[in-house]
Amino acid sequence: MDRIRTVRKAVIPVAGNGTRFLPATKAVPKEMLTIVDRPVVQYAVDEAHQAGIDHIVFVTSRNKQAIEDHFDDTPELISSLSRAGKTAQISELEAMLPKAGSVSFTRQQAPLGLGHAVWCARDLIGDEPFALLLPDMVSFGARGCMAGLMELYREVGSNVVGVEQCAPEDASKYGIVGKGETVQHGFAVTEMVEKPAMGRAPSNYYLNGRYILQPEIFSILSHQSRGAGNEIQLTDGMLKLSETQAFHAHPYEGRTFDCGSKHGFIEANVTFALARADIGDIVFQSVREIMLSHESRIRAA
Ligand code: UTP
Repeated sequence: MDRIRTVRKAVIPVAGNGTRFLPATKAVPKEMLTIVDRPVVQYAVDEAHQAGIDHIVFVTSRNKQAIEDHFDDTPELISSLSRAGKTAQISELEAMLPKAGSVSFTRQQAPLGLGHAVWCARDLIGDEPFALLLPDMVSFGARGCMAGLMELYREVGSNVVGVEQCAPEDASKYGIVGKGETVQHGFAVTEMVEKPAMGRAPSNYYLNGRYILQPEIFSILSHQSRGAGNEIQLTDGMLKLSETQAFHAHPYEGRTFDCGSKHGFIEANVTFALARADIGDIVFQSVREIMLSHESRIRAA
């Protein structure tokens, strides 16, 4: 087998319109909405770092300045916290500040689709494999999903996708992969189908927004025309790439929340809050009381 090339960079696309979250996303990027007290995009960056990937490439757009500011230094804030003796907050801000030169930004001038957003990162990635994390898909578990993808990648050196299992009747809502030969950290992908017709899905393993892709995807995306939703679709590009290169899938041992949808975002907030040492107990009490009073209102109606 050829030498397996190291994955050094992660692409995080943040150039979408976030229309499902209007009016909240009129002035605030959807990726800056918070799960408890951290913006959604911070979870993706932490997950990439945890997986050993140092360099983050954001594909951004107009009105997303807040994301660049979030990953920059804040000397005035630090001085003011320092005067107030708030050392814990200072440590937290310093710990999440990326190393100088380890974050790059490129622009997608118009939201032409995820495939197009990934293609916009081609010059910053160059001729090497890269990770891709969709920031509104948020991992919850003992570790982020990307760490498992990296283990599988080091084993097989191919293209790698993160997957989770859905109820069979929900398979038509997702990108689904077919399950082939098992390897240590996952399995070979036999086929990929975007939103299969009811009863036609090859399995119930759906793509959960985590990928390691070989750089040949860029030339495919550069020739690709618009697909579903009149957008340049990443899945169409991956399907083409799968004609010449292998894909493997890593089943995530945790759970991914789709924070691009309202209910997924609320579920994520409750789940992350319940898991927090500082507020978990009080949130549990509150949620329980809310549920009990909601149930009795329903019964009384
Ligand atoms: P989504 O399709 O979930 O984001 O893309 P969206 O288009 O902003 O959401 P809605 O449907 O309008 O509510 C997943 C990720 O890909 C980025 C988004 O910012 C999001 O983080 N994306 C999507 C781009 O960067 N460019 C695009 O053209 C499309």
